[in-house]
Amino acid sequence: MPQRPYIVGNWKMHGTRAMLSEARAIDRAAQRHMKVEVALAPPYTLVHAVHREVEQIGVGAQDCHPAEGGAHTGDISAAMLADAGAKFVILGHSERRVDHGESNELVHAKAKAALDAGLRVIMCCGESDKVRTSGKAEKFVMDQLRASLPAMDDAGERLSIAYEPIWAIGTGKAATSEDVAQMHGAIRKLLIDMFGEEQGSEVRILYGGSVKPDNARELLGAAEVGGALVGGASLTADSFMGIALAAADLQEG
Ligand code: PGA
Repeated sequence: MPQRPYIVGNWKMHGTRAMLSEARAIDRAAQRHMKVEVALAPPYTLVHAVHREVEQIGVGAQDCHPAEGGAHTGDISAAMLADAGAKFVILGHSERRVDHGESNELVHAKAKAALDAGLRVIMCCGESDKVRTSGKAEKFVMDQLRASLPAMDDAGERLSIAYEPIWAIGTGKAATSEDVAQMHGAIRKLLIDMFGEEQGSEVRILYGGSVKPDNARELLGAAEVGGALVGGASLTADSFMGIALAAADLQEG
């Protein structure tokens, strides 16, 4: 892994204040593995509390609204997230694209808003089972990313991609390291095409979908994998840091 691995926990709609002890435990463990960048995206209600509890790990959110503010009942702007202590936001997750009908255009507008508010962006992409079976996964993911990513001149610093095949999310059925390497290679080419050699080669491409401590080493060791976006296994410090440890081991060779 040539880049500093980025291991991000996505708590989805899990967590009340009782989970703050888990965030603290993750933070303490992350302080012992500085070669790995560890971050956590709790639900909105915990962003500020987690931010206050931790010293080392990055705190982010799982979505934002594209507008700066206004009459949008129930929505949260990127500036509000930054004010609450978020440093990044996950955008375009398939659960939002599917459950909330988010289009590439909307995700693109959200990404612009997040960057304008000074946040880093983790842009998600990934194909359904049906698309993979039809043999069109690569084209689908490239089209999705081209339409979702806004122009930026500091992509290497502020952008990460999370490739998460929908059929692998929460199913216990991770993609094979060969499939991951192939898709990540195609994403790298696209990033260089969109952002130039210098910036495009710096963007970390995370894999997500049933990453667990026991398959992390193999998935993180695949070509062009710069980290992981972890759902279920990020809910306890033990399993999440098991994944971070696998990244640290690979880093040390
Ligand atoms: P999972 O979720 O690790 O539970 O499969 C990953 C994600 O959706 O980010």
